[in-house]
Parts: sequence; structure tokens; C-alpha cells
Amino acid sequence: MKTFLARVHASIFRVGWPRDDRSALKAMVSSIVLHVHAPKVRPATLRFRATWAMGLASMVLLLMLTGTGVYLMFYYYPHPDVAFRSMKDLAFVVPFGKVTRNLHRWAAHGMVVTVTVHMLRVFLTAGYKAPREANWVAGVLLWVLTLALSFTGYLLPWDQLAYWAVTVGTNMIGSVPVGGDFLRELVLGDASVGEAALLRFYVLHCVFLPIAIGGIAAFHLFRVRRDGGLVTSEHAPPDPASVDPAPPTDAAQPKKREARLVNAWPHLVYREVVVALVVTAALAALSLWLDAPLEPEADRTRTPNPAKAPWYFLGVQELAHYSAFWGGVFVPAAMVVGLALLPYLDRAPVALGRTFPRERFRACILFCVMLAFMGVFTVVGTFFRGPGWAFMYWPY
Ligand code: HEM
Repeated sequence: MKTFLARVHASIFRVGWPRDDRSALKAMVSSIVLHVHAPKVRPATLRFRATWAMGLASMVLLLMLTGTGVYLMFYYYPHPDVAFRSMKDLAFVVPFGKVTRNLHRWAAHGMVVTVTVHMLRVFLTAGYKAPREANWVAGVLLWVLTLALSFTGYLLPWDQLAYWAVTVGTNMIGSVPVGGDFLRELVLGDASVGEAALLRFYVLHCVFLPIAIGGIAAFHLFRVRRDGGLVTSEHAPPDPASVDPAPPTDAAQPKKREARLVNAWPHLVYREVVVALVVTAALAALSLWLDAPLEPEADRTRTPNPAKAPWYFLGVQELAHYSAFWGGVFVPAAMVVGLALLPYLDRAPVALGRTFPRERFRACILFCVMLAFMGVFTVVGTFFRGPGWAFMYWPY
């Protein structure tokens, strides 16, 4: 039995537990998972403050969403007559149904947060500068797809919250001056949220968007490695803090640089395992403690007042309150296009890897103000808007 298990183990893990430098490097290059990393990394990039661990946290949450999503799919029916009942079955009949739904819901909200904070980190450390422009654009796409994935999932429980949040969200699309109604109907498959919309959202949520996100995320990680990502490359530009004041120009230089690197296995991989465990534990604790909301079944004759979009679109809903087109369409679209064009407009060379460096102080402040601006509108939309979208001085 022991030899059989040893043979199975050896067929999966071709290189044993690394005991020295050589076997650690061999493990890195011979495993497809570990090969995502460069074999050696700079010690400075191992620190939490270099990455804030948000890229990895997003990846962990994406994997968690995939795992729990597949389980939920076995019990869910995308039809208005039965969708809500599926939710009740998950809560009361399906083994581990409730906790799986909680994990899925909180991971989806968590991922919106971690991806946004990851983008902030990349901006503050100038991680979008050459040669990472394309990877930043891939990141912007991932951000948009993450929001789309979360939004399409919102409708599936088919409760009052889902129905009206999606109605409000898709009404914003309708406010595009030219072709808005056409676009809205294209998304919903009908004039209002109904059977066609539920089926479309289900297919988008379970097939199209996960494939798109998975493909782009794989490209993203490949480019992190190829572009000399902050974390994973020995080719990354030198960390300003560790550059010699007068670097030697002779043949000894590569050796000196080599000496400053450490093996990704175990130093980086262990840290990644710790982050993955912390994220998983936090999500599990939250899911055991707090249930995902489920309101009464969707009823198109009972409009809640106020009807609110999902929280991550409440900033946009608040802006749309001032002007449906400018606030609800133009500003968000301009923000996404501006973000995508950013690395092609801001070409000033800077040292990579320092957070909030003095020479980029104004750019960093501007970016933070933009995020804070959206944050404030989101808080106002979430807590300070009551019936008729009237401003409430006390949280609603
Ligand atoms: C599904 C969402 C995402 C996942 C799973 C993901 C994952 C990662 C990981 C694991 C890294 C390397 C470690 C780190 O720097 O944290 C990374 C780096 C990077 N990410 Fe993302 N990311 C996502 C979304 C984004 C977004 C929204 C942006 C920006 C708009 C972005 C831009 C970048 C860039 C430019 C790098 C290289 C940064 C550098 O070298 O400093 N990513 N990403």
C-alpha cells in the first residue's frame, strides 16, 4: 500500500520536498503551478507593503466563487417559477446549501473590494508603466468583468432585492441618449426584467463571464511574469531602496544582483499559502456568522421605495439622480476609458515599486480623490437616501 501511495504521489509531485537551493529551483521550473513564479525574487518584494496581497486575494476569491458556484448550479433552476424555490431549497434542504450560498455571496462582494484595492495599489506603485501597459488594460477589463459577474449573479435569487436592483441597474443603460432602449432590451431580452432576462443573466453568469474572466486572468498572470512583475521577476527594475549608490560596472555586477535574490520556493510560496489561508478563514467565518440576504419572492407589482441598485453601483445611481445621462452613463464610461488609456497618456518614467513616491504625489492624490469621490457617492446612495430618493440626515 505504501509503495502504491508513494507511486501516486511521485506521479503528481515529480520533485520531492525541496531540501536545498538546487531542488527548490528544480521544483519551481518543473511544476506548472509553481512555474507561474520566477524561480528567484527580490526580498523587498516579499513584504506585504509591496503588493498588499490583493492580487492573490482576488485570485483566491475567484477560485472560491468557481468552486461554490459549481455546487450551487446543481440545485438552481433559471426560471421565474422555480428560481426562488431553489433558494429556499438551498437554505433548508440541500446539504451545506446555506453555507455554500453564503460563501458564494460574500466572496462575490469581497472580490469587488479586493480587485478595486488591487487596482489602487498598482496605481500608487506605478505598476501600469511600461512594459506593463497591456497588463493594466487586461486588469481594467478584469475589473469591469468582476462587476458584471457580480451584477448578473444578483438577479438569480429572484427575490425583491434582486428584481428591483437589476431593474434599476438596467434602467441606467436605458438612459444612453442614442440606442439606450435598444441596448437595454438587448440585455434583458424584453421590455422589462422577466423570464428572458433571468435566462440571459444565468448564461452570462455561469458560462460566458467565468470563461472570459478565467482566460483574461490567465493572460494577466502570464504577463505579470513576462513583464517582470513587481513580485515574480528577477528582471524587474531594481528596487530604489536596494540600489547601490555607485554600482560596479565590471563583470561582478550580475553576481552581486544575483546574490540579492532569494528562491521563490519557499519564501514567496509560503507567504502566498498564508494569505490564501487567511482569506479562506475570514470568508468561512463570515459565512458561518452572517447569512446572505433573501427577501420575499420577486413581485413586479410591488415596487420598493426607494429601489436601489447593488451597492457597488449605488455611487452611479446617486450620480444618475442628478443627471441620468451625464451621471449614470457618461461619467462611469469616461472613468473606465480613462483608466484603460492611463498608461498610454502618462509616459513619465519613474522608479517602480514605491508607494506614493514624491515625484508622483499629485497623480496619486488625484487617483485617491477620484476613488474617494465614488466612495462618498456610494455611501450617500446606500445610507442617506430614503423614499423618493430624498436625502436623509440619518442613515436610512
Ligand atoms: C480578477 C482580478 C485580478 C486578479 C486575480 C489579479 C491578480 C494579480 C496578481 C496575482 C498579481 C501579482 C501580485 C500583485 O501584484 O498583487 C497582479 C499584478 C498586476 N495586476 Fe492584477 N489582478 C486582477 C485585477 C487587476 C486590475 C483590476 C488591475 C488594474 C486595473 C490589475 C493590474 C495589475 C498590474 C499592472 C500588475 C503588475 C503590477 C506590478 O508589477 O507592480 N490587476 N495581479
